[in-house]
Amino acid sequence: MTLRRFLGVIAALVTVAAGTVAAAPVARAADPVVVLASDFENGTTQGWFGRGSAALAVSPDAPHAGAASLLTTGRTATWNGPGRDVLGLLAPGATYAIRAQVRLAPGAADAAMHLTMQRTPTGGAQTFERVASATGTAAGWAELLGEYSYQADSSELQLYLESDDAGVSYYLDDLTITQTAPPPNGPPDEAGAVSDFEGGTTQGWSSRIGRETVAVTAADAHGGQRSLLTSNRAAAFDGPAFNVLGKMTKGKKYALSVWVKLAPGEPAVDMRLSLERRLAGTQAFQTIAAGNGVTSGQWVQLSGTFVLGVDVDFLTVYVETAGGTASFYIDDFALTFLPAKPIQADIPSLKDVLSGDFPIGAAASPADTVGEKAKLLTKHFSSITPGNAMKWDATEPTEGNFTFGDADTLASFAAANGIKLRGHTLVWHSQTPDWVFQHPDGTPLTANPADKALLLRRLETHIRAVAGRYADQIYAWDVANEVVDENQPDGLRRSPWYVITGLDYLRTAFRVAHEVAPKAKLFINDYNTEYPRKRVAFFNLVRKLRAEGVPIDGVGHQLHINIERQRLDEIEKTFQAFAKLGVEQQVTELDVSANFDFVQSLPSFPPDVIAAQGYRYRDLFNLFRRYRDDLTAVTVWGSADDGTWLKSFPFPRLDQPLLFDEDLQAKPAYWGIVDPSRLPQLTRTLRTPAAHPRVDGQRDLQWTLLPGTDVFSAGKLRGQFQTRWDGRFLYVDVEVTDPTRDPADAVDLFVDQDNAKTTTFGPGDAKYRVRRDGRHTAGLIAATRPTATGYRMEAAIPLRAAGTLDRPLGFDLRLSDVHSGQTASWNDNQQAQDTDTSRWGTLTLATPVGQVDVGRGTPVIDGTPDRIWAHASQVSPQVHVTGTAGATATAKLLWDASHLYVLATVHDPTLDASSPNAFEQDSVELFVDPDNSKNTGYNDDDGQYRINFNNAQTISGNFG
Ligand code: XIL
Repeated sequence: MTLRRFLGVIAALVTVAAGTVAAAPVARAADPVVVLASDFENGTTQGWFGRGSAALAVSPDAPHAGAASLLTTGRTATWNGPGRDVLGLLAPGATYAIRAQVRLAPGAADAAMHLTMQRTPTGGAQTFERVASATGTAAGWAELLGEYSYQADSSELQLYLESDDAGVSYYLDDLTITQTAPPPNGPPDEAGAVSDFEGGTTQGWSSRIGRETVAVTAADAHGGQRSLLTSNRAAAFDGPAFNVLGKMTKGKKYALSVWVKLAPGEPAVDMRLSLERRLAGTQAFQTIAAGNGVTSGQWVQLSGTFVLGVDVDFLTVYVETAGGTASFYIDDFALTFLPAKPIQADIPSLKDVLSGDFPIGAAASPADTVGEKAKLLTKHFSSITPGNAMKWDATEPTEGNFTFGDADTLASFAAANGIKLRGHTLVWHSQTPDWVFQHPDGTPLTANPADKALLLRRLETHIRAVAGRYADQIYAWDVANEVVDENQPDGLRRSPWYVITGLDYLRTAFRVAHEVAPKAKLFINDYNTEYPRKRVAFFNLVRKLRAEGVPIDGVGHQLHINIERQRLDEIEKTFQAFAKLGVEQQVTELDVSANFDFVQSLPSFPPDVIAAQGYRYRDLFNLFRRYRDDLTAVTVWGSADDGTWLKSFPFPRLDQPLLFDEDLQAKPAYWGIVDPSRLPQLTRTLRTPAAHPRVDGQRDLQWTLLPGTDVFSAGKLRGQFQTRWDGRFLYVDVEVTDPTRDPADAVDLFVDQDNAKTTTFGPGDAKYRVRRDGRHTAGLIAATRPTATGYRMEAAIPLRAAGTLDRPLGFDLRLSDVHSGQTASWNDNQQAQDTDTSRWGTLTLATPVGQVDVGRGTPVIDGTPDRIWAHASQVSPQVHVTGTAGATATAKLLWDASHLYVLATVHDPTLDASSPNAFEQDSVELFVDPDNSKNTGYNDDDGQYRINFNNAQTISGNFG
């Protein structure tokens, strides 16, 4: 049967994000050139010599072809065997296929055989690079086939055949080295690389750990006939690896892309394209791209961009799974050099534009300190916050082992460029290594005095080392991060910190930070502080700790928001609330996601979305400027979209939340702050439900059904408006916030009856003015009333042709405040020609807002309908959300002081709860928005309640 759900559905099915960059294939090779062929037919060893104790002889006993092959005997170590110097034969940057035949001496047990390259980079240390592997047998010939290339100039290049069996004797025959791609014309680090596995070789890919099997297969392919299969994996991080040392260099930008698919029968798993870098033996890992829920049914592209910010002496990319050991295919890998676009030198510096307001900062990583990104940072930003480099996992990965590589890179960059440094962060539940919360034997610390003392000691040692090291440079520290949980009765997050030490970890952290970094302002930092319940919980915690004397100087509002939410007036309430506490405030991690919710995933954003983001930044910074006395800094979480964390959080998808785009060019978001007159024109849209409100200046029930749409000015003037329609009129209700009273304050209404969007007035275009004192132009019905913060205006504009469903109307609304001379409009119809109707937004006439009167009553909840339900009003779901048939239902509603009651009677001939997913079991779902704020995505108070026919209940929402 069709699985149906009632009273609405949220289908939170997240599909794989297809990545962001389509890498162009790199030009392929010319004709293959054989540079070495050893067949031993002339009776000599042809330049091969014995390594270690190995003895070589040309033998007629077992030729692969012809009459001779090379026999190796006398081996006493795995690396003993025939070797040959190939330095003069193989050019750096070119690619070679190396093929050889091997057979074990009679009677030998099977043994693993490897072709290996012993190479010494000029002036560097000797390395051993695996070229090919196969299992050798005495019964017949095995082929070794591999791909090889090297980049850096080298003083030694020796190819040799070895075996895991230190004593086995074997024959070698018909070894060839063929150049499959010439050295690139340009610099090797701009040549890129492609691997399609069509030639039958692994094209330089090999097993990363050594225990997994990596082999070309014709069993599946993304393009062509072949792909690369990795099997026999023992851990999630086992996988195929590709050496990119020399192919990517510091400060340059690359696109990387690979297609992945699981082998048949493997259950879906998240996969990653990752990078391992090392310098003098210290490893670091980075995710370049991720794909959620990769299956055996479909190829999925993992793609991303990467800029190397530090020196390395080892660099590989590899493919891994997030968990498990599934076998998988990869295909059509491409590494593409992306030439950096120069930053715009001729646009104003953000830090200059905002110099009278507050310092403007950006989160940064070492990659931001080189090349064009460094220029972008130094031109526009007066402060940086290390995005990851000063977190616990980066600075003390194992106990007492302090690593400051990336942190020092950022600190020296800041010092060298006169940029202020914010520290982030000393105590957090995330990105903190497990050892912090464990005994040396790995068992977890628990809530007892000894463990508490141990944990606080570790915290103190950590802070002394990290905050102490930068005491002269860091001007503000996010000492504590994300410690509030508004869903706990006491408002405190149940992190191990809290569970083991109560509030003492915060007391210790601030005390020690103050002691070792007395010049730094100490902050407590959190997200969602612009939401009412979190705001209150955060406020109460800060007030309590400060009252105790804990040295908290300031609160950080992360402000990870999106284009729609949180509303500006709620953000403003947060600034106002903390201003009363007398603490410094900073916006610490601002970004404005172009995604509206936690589900959407788009391949690109429509220009209107990026433009709307520009207006949102304009309004935000106007608000910040009004609070310049309370805000001591504003920091954006990244300088440009190429590096945003939102490409991996809350799951891999495209996002563009920052001021500069992927190519470091200024976005509308930047112009919204610097010069709003340069914002692109935008056509906003709004659904206008049907209704017949009374035009009397009163707020009748109809106007409480939906939230108002905001319009902002640069100052205090602002408003929220709504629209309705019936056959004859367009109705407009505006709540204006305008504390300075003047009878000539006004609302201008612009209507384009046929939505022609022309630049001059045609028939049906009109402008109406309604003044605060109620006087208005002829041709409409209007009324105004004073309110506590301004006035309300209600108007009815006659429709020339009868209003019909889905009809579009051109519309704009502009407020003006005589006292300040400011104006504010919905679709940015600010100072332009009033008759340019192309600058107005669009209303669409829509169905009424669903509404039902609910009677009061208290039923018993036992699955049987009490008599009290008899007179309750009834609704029935009418809209098929998925499918077109299946179950039907009616629902009745009642309320009392503490509950909303629902009685749903479902007609469903076949009941099915067989799916492991609750949302695919036959059930009733109730969606409740108690404050009726009608936002996209859940607010604090919103809940989704699912009850299946067996009374299994699942609840989602932000309230835990
Ligand atoms: C993020 C970083 O930007 C990412 O690179 C990392 O993978 C996860 O952490 N709140 C915080 C920041 O306080 O530390 C987080 O930074 C973003 C959310």
